[in-house]
Amino acid sequence: MSDLIKNGSYVLIFLDGKRNWIREVKEDGTFHSNKGQIQYNDLIGTSYGRVVKSHSGIQFQIHKPSLTDIQTSMGKKTRISTNIVYPKDAGIILIESSIGAGSEVVEAGTGSGALTFVLANAVGSTGKVYTYEAREDIYQTAKMTLEKYTPTKNIIMHNKDILEGVEEKDVDAVVLDLATPWEVVEHAFNALKPSHYFASYSPTINQVMKTHEALSIDGQWGMLKTLEVLQREIRVKPNATRPKTWMVAHTGYMTFARKLYDGYS
Ligand SMILES: C[S@@+](CC[C@H](N)C(=O)[O-])C[C@H]1O[C@@H](n2cnc3c(N)ncnc32)[C@H](O)[C@@H]1O
Repeated sequence: MSDLIKNGSYVLIFLDGKRNWIREVKEDGTFHSNKGQIQYNDLIGTSYGRVVKSHSGIQFQIHKPSLTDIQTSMGKKTRISTNIVYPKDAGIILIESSIGAGSEVVEAGTGSGALTFVLANAVGSTGKVYTYEAREDIYQTAKMTLEKYTPTKNIIMHNKDILEGVEEKDVDAVVLDLATPWEVVEHAFNALKPSHYFASYSPTINQVMKTHEALSIDGQWGMLKTLEVLQREIRVKPNATRPKTWMVAHTGYMTFARKLYDGYS
C-alpha cells in the first residue's frame, strides 16, 4: 500500500539537483517557484513518487523527503546556521560507533541539528539522543527544526555547555562536533559504558592532533583511529561517463576511540 500525501505532510518538490525544495503541504495553499505554481490540493490524497506539472507546464517530481534531503536542507544558510555534518560523514559515524536501534547517545554541539536528526533516526523509538548546545539562539532554532522532522520523542535537548559536565551515565556513544573536542574527553570517559564509543568530527588536523593527545593520556582509551571520507559523484552520459569535475574535497576528519575498562597500567 503506497503512502499518501496528507494535509501537513512534508514533500520534496524536485526539479533537479540544485532546484528542489522541502515544503509542508497545506490545504488551499500554493507552492511558488520561477518555474510555476503547484496547488497543494492537487497533491493531497495522492501518492508520493508522482510527476506533476506546474501551471506553466514544467514537470516536478513529488517525493517523501529522504534522510539525505532533510539533513542537507538543514545546512542551507539561514540567519542562524552552523556548518553541518553531511550524509557521507554521518553514515560512517553511525557505523564506526555501532549506533543503532535502542542506542543511547550523547551529542555536542547540536548546531543546526543535522547530525542529531540522523542519530535520532538510527536509535529509533527505543533509544535516546541527549544533545548539548551552549548557545541559546542556536538551541532554539535547532529545537524548532527537530520538532518538525522527528515524530518520535527520543531527543533530549540541553541548552548547556558540555564542558560543565555530562548529566547522563552508561551511554553507548559520545559524538562531538565542536571546536575543542579534547576538552570533552574526560567527560566522555565518565559518561560511557566500558568498550563503548567516542567519536569526534573536526575540520582541521590541529584539532585531530589535540584530540589524539587527550585520548592518549592515562591509557584509558583503545583503538584510536582518524579517517576522512571522500565522496565523488559520477556524471553518467552516453559515451561520456566520468567523475564530475567538481567535488567537495574536504568536510571534516573523524576520530574514533573505545573506552577501556581498567586501562593500561
Ligand atoms: C559545527 S556546529 C555543530 C553542527 C552539527 N553537528 C550539525 O550537523 O548540525 C558546532 C556547535 O557546537 C556548539 N558548541 C561549541 N562548544 C560547545 C560546548 N562546549 N558545549 C555545547 N555546545 C557547544 C556551537 O555553539 C555550535 O552550535
